[in-house]
Amino acid sequence: MDRTYQRILGLRAIRKFQDRPLDPEDLDRVLEAARWTGSAKNRQNWSVVVVQDPDQKERLAGCCNTGGPLSKAPAGLALVQEPETYEFDIGRMAQNIMLSADALGMATCPVTMHREHDAAAVLGVPEGWRCRYVIAIGYPAPSAEPARFGGRKSIGEIVHRDSYRR
Ligand SMILES: Cc1cc2nc3c(=O)[nH]c(=O)nc-3n(C[C@H](O)[C@H](O)[C@H](O)COP(=O)(O)O)c2cc1C
Repeated sequence: MDRTYQRILGLRAIRKFQDRPLDPEDLDRVLEAARWTGSAKNRQNWSVVVVQDPDQKERLAGCCNTGGPLSKAPAGLALVQEPETYEFDIGRMAQNIMLSADALGMATCPVTMHREHDAAAVLGVPEGWRCRYVIAIGYPAPSAEPARFGGRKSIGEIVHRDSYRR
């Protein structure tokens, strides 16, 4: 089976990372994949803040109720949305980041900024800009395993033909 397809199916959130910083070349490649994400009308009205300073990373993790993965990762990629951006676009960018990181031997976990106004203040983004998600990123720890609750609904449960019906 095609390797890309297998990687798409196999992408999991990983929450344990090796205790080493990202290789700058690996990081650049992931950022390049982020840059090439398609967006509505090709507006690209987003930014990525690369957070590697441990104190700053911890401040961001503190904006989340489930920020453990960000505390443990060597870096976080904060996804910043300009006003009137589509969530769809930033979601696509997140997936580009996660898939490219996985292909390059890194591991990621999306982290929700439950207190997004606090996250925006920590990052110092302009008024009205949002940061709802940060991607924790690093190299997977040898013991890193995806969470066991990571199954999926069946095709029959989520796919409907021609109209929605059960
Ligand atoms: C929008 C979004 C927000 C998420 N937020 C968090 C989070 O705050 N903390 C966390 O540990 N995992 C977070 N996750 C990871 C999900 O829990 C994980 O993707 C889901 O349980 C499925 O597991 P899998 O990706 O390993 O298959 C988030 C995932 C998504 C898509």
